Amino acid sequence: MTIIGIIGAGEVGRHIARAAIANGHQVVLANSRGPETLGSLIEELGPSARAATAAGAAAAGEFVVIAVPLKMVNDMPVNELAGKVVIDTNNYMAVRDGHYPIIDSGEKTEHELRQEQLPTSKVVKAFTHIQAPRIITWGRPAGSADRLALSASSDFPEAVELVTRLYDRFGFDTVDNSPLSESWRTRPGQPAWMQERQTRPELIANLASARRAVQEFGVTTII
Ligand SMILES: NC(=O)c1ccc[n+]([C@@H]2O[C@H](COP(=O)([O-])OP(=O)(O)OC[C@H]3O[C@@H](n4cnc5c(N)ncnc54)[C@H](OP(=O)(O)O)[C@@H]3O)[C@@H](O)[C@H]2O)c1
Repeated sequence: MTIIGIIGAGEVGRHIARAAIANGHQVVLANSRGPETLGSLIEELGPSARAATAAGAAAAGEFVVIAVPLKMVNDMPVNELAGKVVIDTNNYMAVRDGHYPIIDSGEKTEHELRQEQLPTSKVVKAFTHIQAPRIITWGRPAGSADRLALSASSDFPEAVELVTRLYDRFGFDTVDNSPLSESWRTRPGQPAWMQERQTRPELIANLASARRAVQEFGVTTII
């Protein structure tokens, strides 16, 4: 039974927790306000869940999910995440997060930045182009004609392999969209993000048809 640390107990964190528990895992969940504020969620999730600080969840997890928007100044526990696969569900949304010029200019993807912030971890972008509640309702057994696919991007093949096993347990196929520099292909607004239900061939086609928007001096160019 794997213990999964989950930092972020909002829409994504709690639905990944539900899927993980349904598949026999234990979860340790954290938010920004402290474990004492997660009582009702832990009660609802049952004995396979407990609450901790972000550092506590990171330390407890064999691997860790970060379901928290990216901040330019790192707010994740680097030391406790060292050596671990870190599944980052963050989608960069300038309307919510503010504009990050280093991302808008195309210099770095948001997940390359997360990797830089966590240099001793193995960051993998996953679960970003599915609405959180679908994680527990859209899974299908392997080989089903209507089984959907989700992407994973990382600079570490072993991190993609871990996500592939997790997706498979949750009922999804995987399309490897590595490395992290290519992770913009599933960004909000791209075809793979817009079309939520995608079989593996559809997701591969949508990743290939992505077009990168680069913004400099207030001018947006599609490259
Ligand atoms: N919602 C979706 O369907 C969906 C799907 C795919 C990807 N995403 C992306 O996944 C990320 C999370 O989305 P969400 O919808 O789950 O957000 P959300 O509902 O707003 O939840 C965010 C969670 O992160 C916690 N948090 C924020 N800063 C933290 C910190 N420094 N340390 C620990 N916890 C912290 C918040 O805790 P407090 O409440 O205590 O502040 C909250 O529990 C976003 O980047 C989003 O774009 C969302």
